[in-house]
Amino acid sequence: MSKIITISEIANHVGEEVTVRGWLYNRTDKGKLQFLSVRDGSGIVQAVAFKKELPESDFTVAQSLTQEASIVMTGTVRADDRAPGYPGGYEIGLKNLQLIQQSEGYPISPKEHGVEFLMDNRHFWVRSLRQWAILRVRATVIRAIRNWLDDHGYLLVDTPILSGLAGENSTDLFEVDYFGEPAFLAQTGQLYNEANMMSFGKVYCFGPTFRAERSKTRRHLVEFWMVEPEMAFFNLEDLMEMEEQFVSAIVQAVLKNHEQELKILERDTSRLTQVTPPFARISYDDAVKLVAEIREKTDDPEQKELLRLDWGTDFGSPHETVIAESFDRPVFVYHYPTAVKAFYMQPVAGRPEICRSVDLLAPEGYGEITGGSERIHDAELLAERVKEVGIDPENYTWYLDLRKFGSVPHSGFGLGVERTVAWICGLPHVRETIPYARTLNRLFP
Ligand code: 4AD
Ligand code: MG
Repeated sequence: MSKIITISEIANHVGEEVTVRGWLYNRTDKGKLQFLSVRDGSGIVQAVAFKKELPESDFTVAQSLTQEASIVMTGTVRADDRAPGYPGGYEIGLKNLQLIQQSEGYPISPKEHGVEFLMDNRHFWVRSLRQWAILRVRATVIRAIRNWLDDHGYLLVDTPILSGLAGENSTDLFEVDYFGEPAFLAQTGQLYNEANMMSFGKVYCFGPTFRAERSKTRRHLVEFWMVEPEMAFFNLEDLMEMEEQFVSAIVQAVLKNHEQELKILERDTSRLTQVTPPFARISYDDAVKLVAEIREKTDDPEQKELLRLDWGTDFGSPHETVIAESFDRPVFVYHYPTAVKAFYMQPVAGRPEICRSVDLLAPEGYGEITGGSERIHDAELLAERVKEVGIDPENYTWYLDLRKFGSVPHSGFGLGVERTVAWICGLPHVRETIPYARTLNRLFP
């Protein structure tokens, strides 16, 4: 009996007879030699079926294998620098090959396909090498997020997905029928985080969030995953210091564990290695000036139009890109206009038209990956803001009440997993960073 192994373990079994169970990724027919590229989820290995070395019926199976046929194979592991695979450098000389199921007419062939076709076939597309690399990086991003927070005194406290109130804004809400009452899918766990923060000091929630965004951009999903830390007694400066440590740890964890995946994705990692604290910081006021200067210098009329910006408006992605590209690592933009941010953000003392908010912009055109702020901790001021923005104070009673019993200054932020993965992997669009993207026009598969 040979040992069943996963391809990721192959280096430990050179010279041994092993069994690998998986799927045919590709096959090269050289007559008496069949080169099988086999994947098992943990990696890809080259298996060589040499006519003389396995039973005739098994060799016939090898010759007939089609892409994604499921197989169980047994053979001897050989180290060979030329052998392609993940990890490369090993091949299996087959002695036995058993077909589990043939796969006729698998829709995704190695040739080029359009993105819409691939998204329609996402349930198959997840088997492709590039998607394998991306989703493995995603898993590490999520693990790094949890590890860092768990190691730094943050408690995971889950927040509900079904909620009776809007967390962020009232326009992008997904309404569902809650036994005859309107309820909403969570846009954020923040308001509950603020209650939990008063119990545990430093908390985070981490789950799917929903925005009925009608925008079709490279950065927006309807369902996305967000981690939201919330900290008692943190001001905006404390928040930025924590965020730069946290985001750096995530990027470094991927660099450390995924050289292979980043190579598959042809990611130039030179900019990523620079992601270490401290990050740059620029106020919204100065960022507006910076954009104006860059716009002044450009000769491209189209770019000139795109970079048009008045004080008081939120940045679009062209603005974010040029701001971020002015720095060699991620940059914090702080003190945005109060009018473009959420109602709960603390106004700046003496200048209530701007607020104690901070967004983190990723380099290389990836734009905002985190958004956060100091929260209003004064009961009266918060009640005033609720009234000003026109949300129903009735629904916010419990949230407002938090400010009545031992209220403290506090801050928090949310980091979007998909935008972070897109940035780290160097992907043009967030749709490949989540197993099953939900976008304006897509609910299947
Ligand atoms: O800036 P946002 O909307 O902030 C909040 O929801 C706060 N309540 C978070 C907090 O302070 N606790 O979202 C935070 C991040 C963004 O920076 C972005 O990375 C991601 O969530 N995000 C999206 N990602 C994909 N698709 C969307 N539609 C997204 N909207 C926000
Ligand atoms: Mg934001």
